[in-house]
Amino acid sequence: MSTGNLKDIVVNVENLEVTFDEKKIIRNVSFNVRRGEIIGFFGISGAGKTTIIRVLTCQISKKNWTGNVNVTNLSPGSKKNYAKILSNIGYVPQLEELNLYYDLTPLKNVEVFASCYGMKKKEAKNIAMELFSILDIPEDTWNKPLKKMSGGEKKRVSMAIGLIHKPDILFLDEPTTGVDAAKRYDVLSYLKKLNRRLGTTMFLITHDMEAALIVDRAAILRDGKLLEFDSNSNLITSLPNNGLVARFSIENLNEEKINIIKRFPNAPNIKTIRVGNETLEVLMDDFEKNLSKLIQFMMENGLKINAMSRDVAAFRRYFQLRIQEEEEKERLIRIQQDAIEEVEI
Ligand SMILES: Nc1ncnc2c1ncn2[C@@H]1O[C@H](COP(=O)(O)OP(=O)(O)OP(=O)(O)O)[C@@H](O)[C@H]1O
Ligand SMILES: [Mg+2]
Repeated sequence: MSTGNLKDIVVNVENLEVTFDEKKIIRNVSFNVRRGEIIGFFGISGAGKTTIIRVLTCQISKKNWTGNVNVTNLSPGSKKNYAKILSNIGYVPQLEELNLYYDLTPLKNVEVFASCYGMKKKEAKNIAMELFSILDIPEDTWNKPLKKMSGGEKKRVSMAIGLIHKPDILFLDEPTTGVDAAKRYDVLSYLKKLNRRLGTTMFLITHDMEAALIVDRAAILRDGKLLEFDSNSNLITSLPNNGLVARFSIENLNEEKINIIKRFPNAPNIKTIRVGNETLEVLMDDFEKNLSKLIQFMMENGLKINAMSRDVAAFRRYFQLRIQEEEEKERLIRIQQDAIEEVEI
């Protein structure tokens, strides 16, 4: 990875390890983030996403972590830096109830937060109005109690609050959770718009694979380890044949049939992923050359193909494949360890 101009690095994490109750939660995580980037943090529940963000936002005591961490060139390992770091960053919590007063108007809500940063009322109001406009929050709601707004509008007010003091970095924990499917994309496009207009660096913790569409780089975490940290397109082109996928509908698909496909001799690096009851996706090197041979191989081995289509893998597939690969690696390591233990006994 090119680290760009060092001046442009707003977050630098080297060998971060976090331990709670003698249990290692984060293992040797390192990455850099450049000014203006949108970073997505992806990983199944318990992977350690929130924990890393909590270290960056001064919410975890230095007693619990080791490594070199800098946020806007200041270490959250030293309490004397907390106030300065917190004035350089904004935080939008997962549940917007946590930073909103429902009986106050959107403008009053912003004022309350702005006063915590020592901002003048007028200045706060001007910035709030600019943010509300970028976020398309209807002007006739600005002076009415927040409880009358829709869920999506409240979420956008919560984002405006995170940005009121013009932070360099905005951290968002699950910004699309609890937003209905149709509106989820709106939230993401507002974030992109804010990022473009204000140049704010953003960290998005999310389970929403669609979010990959707006991030510059995606971090994939599993079991406290950072498996990948790269752009969506680099991740997908690292797949066999740049992520070209053959999707098969196979009659009575089961593990045994999938194992037959995995043994296709012409493409040792073949990858399979089950995406439905009878639907299997296959990725392999030399896709064009191998596809007809694979079909022939499947038929010779008694598999009945009912339909086939082609596609290019999206981030969701990359993520599933990468996690699957890691699980497989760990399974092999466990088998080896068990074998060694047996020999020792
Ligand atoms: N203060 C704590 N004390 C002990 N264990 C903790 C603490 N905070 C987090 N953990 C553990 O660390 C692991 C990672 O938690 P974390 O909240 O970072 O996961 P996550 O990736 O954000 O998950 P989710 O998607 O569910 O929010 C979990 O196993 C969790 O139980
Ligand atoms: Mg979390």
